[in-house]
Amino acid sequence: MNNEYAIVTGASSGMGLEFAKLLAKRGYNLVLVARRTDRLERLKKEILESHQTDIHVLSLDLVEMDSTDKLLAFVQVNKLNVTILINNAGFGTSGDFLSLPIEKTMEMLQLNIGTLTKLTYLFGNEMKKNKLGYILQVSSVGAFQPSPYFAAYSATKAYVMLFSEALDFELKGSNVSVTTLYPGATKTEFFEVSETKVNKLVARTLMTADEVADIALNAMFKRKRSIVPGIINKLSVFFAQMSPRKMTTWSAANIMK
Ligand SMILES: NC(=O)c1ccc[n+]([C@@H]2O[C@H](COP(=O)([O-])OP(=O)(O)OC[C@H]3O[C@@H](n4cnc5c(N)ncnc54)[C@H](OP(=O)(O)O)[C@@H]3O)[C@@H](O)[C@H]2O)c1
Repeated sequence: MNNEYAIVTGASSGMGLEFAKLLAKRGYNLVLVARRTDRLERLKKEILESHQTDIHVLSLDLVEMDSTDKLLAFVQVNKLNVTILINNAGFGTSGDFLSLPIEKTMEMLQLNIGTLTKLTYLFGNEMKKNKLGYILQVSSVGAFQPSPYFAAYSATKAYVMLFSEALDFELKGSNVSVTTLYPGATKTEFFEVSETKVNKLVARTLMTADEVADIALNAMFKRKRSIVPGIINKLSVFFAQMSPRKMTTWSAANIMK
């Protein structure tokens, strides 16, 4: 059995759950983190039916300020050799920014930006010391343009993009890499959580979570700086980068509304 561990945040559903399954298949031991422990325990049981790995389930609300220190302490007490960090936990809020409860928006900023940054700092330092590590940051195609009605959410993902790509540069030569994933609409609980109705056009382009997770992990193990899964998402990022900001804002607004 491999003695390396992968931390997957947000492993109780969607892409996180698929990351966990695929990493177990590759022989990694796991630390699964989310709030819904029953879901994590179910996933652990399912993985153990087909793979011999060591799996720890950790129930944490990653919005809480001390949750990142708790995760580090858990890893240290159990002497786990963490070589992979998947910063996947995240959620979106949709609607007119000024009408949304500000408390929810602040929690989103904390999870999507604060927790991701702190975990990257804590485990990035451990990995650098051990001269081995892979960090996967889950951003979004929404990072490439202003997205009215998802304004703060897409801004959190733009932060993830700029922070993570810069950090990957800083870490060159250290045997620790940071890969940023830019998924487009993917079939998960994301839309339910963000109370978003998926329009017909978007519904037709939905990728599956296992598809996205597989593409992302392949890129991460190749130490790629970034990965946009799927041709539709690649085209949307290309047009967002090539078109005037006013135009991409308008088209994002039409898709989001
Ligand atoms: N689906 C899409 O279309 C899409 C597109 C672009 C980017 N993304 C990004 O992909 C990532 C994964 O989302 P998903 O699509 O797989 O959605 P999902 O099915 O809703 O999964 C989100 C995961 O994050 C966890 N999470 C949420 N709040 C948390 C908290 N306070 N503490 C700990 N864990 C928390 C959830 O677990 P618990 O509820 O059990 O805590 C869940 O496991 C997110 O960063 C999202 O922004 C999604």
